[in-house]
Amino acid sequence: MKHLLDSRSPKLTICVLGGTGFVGTELITRLAMDGHWVRVPTRASAGNDLLRVLDTVRLIRADVHDSSTLTRLFAGADAVINLVGILNEHGRSTFRSVHTNLAEKVVAAARTSRVSRLLHMSSLAADATGAPSQYLRSKGEAEARVRASPPTLGWTIFRPSVIFGPGDSLTNRFANLLRLSGGFLPLARPQARFAPVSVADVAQAFRLALRDPTTVGHTYELCGPEVLTLEQIVRTTAAVAGLRCRIVGLPDFIAWLQAVAMNLLPGKPFSIDNYKSLTVDSVCREDGCARLGIRPKPLLAVLPTYLGLQNIPDQLDYYRRINDR
Ligand SMILES: NC(=O)c1ccc[n+]([C@@H]2O[C@H](COP(=O)([O-])OP(=O)(O)OC[C@H]3O[C@@H](n4cnc5c(N)ncnc54)[C@H](OP(=O)(O)O)[C@@H]3O)[C@@H](O)[C@H]2O)c1
Repeated sequence: MKHLLDSRSPKLTICVLGGTGFVGTELITRLAMDGHWVRVPTRASAGNDLLRVLDTVRLIRADVHDSSTLTRLFAGADAVINLVGILNEHGRSTFRSVHTNLAEKVVAAARTSRVSRLLHMSSLAADATGAPSQYLRSKGEAEARVRASPPTLGWTIFRPSVIFGPGDSLTNRFANLLRLSGGFLPLARPQARFAPVSVADVAQAFRLALRDPTTVGHTYELCGPEVLTLEQIVRTTAAVAGLRCRIVGLPDFIAWLQAVAMNLLPGKPFSIDNYKSLTVDSVCREDGCARLGIRPKPLLAVLPTYLGLQNIPDQLDYYRRINDR
């Protein structure tokens, strides 16, 4: 593995699974700017225009759940990054197949293709046995598959709290809900605690790990600099986007009923499993960002760059509101 981590030969061929999503788009853009060659398998035959314009990025229509396809995708690659993840099950895409089984197939295909480096995306609070939701348990099982990989595969695992940034499904989603509802939001688990981390800092963690051999065999929890409740995240989003915000915190039983009802809607906007994930705090037990030399940016430093506030008077108003708090 020495050759691939040597700073004198930094241009790598990297296969990124799940690279077309929110985190993947940010990470791959930066990997391409670093000069790496990036293969990105996807189920989609069109779209992902942001990635298609990058010269050293190749989108490949492929089924990553097929082991022989994976082996072909990994052939000649220096590193594999697995970002594939789902928040809800749909048809054959179960938490077990998409998180746990895929992680196992990735490890096996990396071995067959003699890939020496694997960066694996997990989640804070992932725990194979003790987590309250299937999402978190399957993420924990996936971590176990990665840790059990043969010694020839240098793995690194990342466990971020909730991630924010342009195109996220956190702040953008709440902003859209507040716009649609005129500012009224019934909120499940409003006191659930998170340490939101920016997508740029998460991407930086992956980039640093690619270059740094001391990260092999380690797990990094990634958190932003502040712990916020879900309610505080929504209020901050509303303030920055200039939206009215009236939050009604739902008692757990009503929140659970809300999840039962929304679980039946197309696209499951809020599922029973999502509700269960919210019953554990998503805060770090150790400072993975500091271990990597990253100073993570707070929510307020980044939100205004992508939420609303198109003109100078609005921006000034925003800073006044922050000062008044
Ligand atoms: N966003 C967060 O706040 C957050 C927090 C903690 C951990 N994470 C983890 O970070 C990773 C990336 O998150 P994200 O927010 O970027 O997710 P995302 O935007 O939903 O992107 C998910 C990616 O996974 C691929 N994918 C989804 N279902 C798949 C399936 N059944 N088979 C194969 N590929 C599938 C999609 O690829 P195609 O559609 O192109 O095939 C897409 O590229 C996930 O593992 C997630 O669990 C995210």
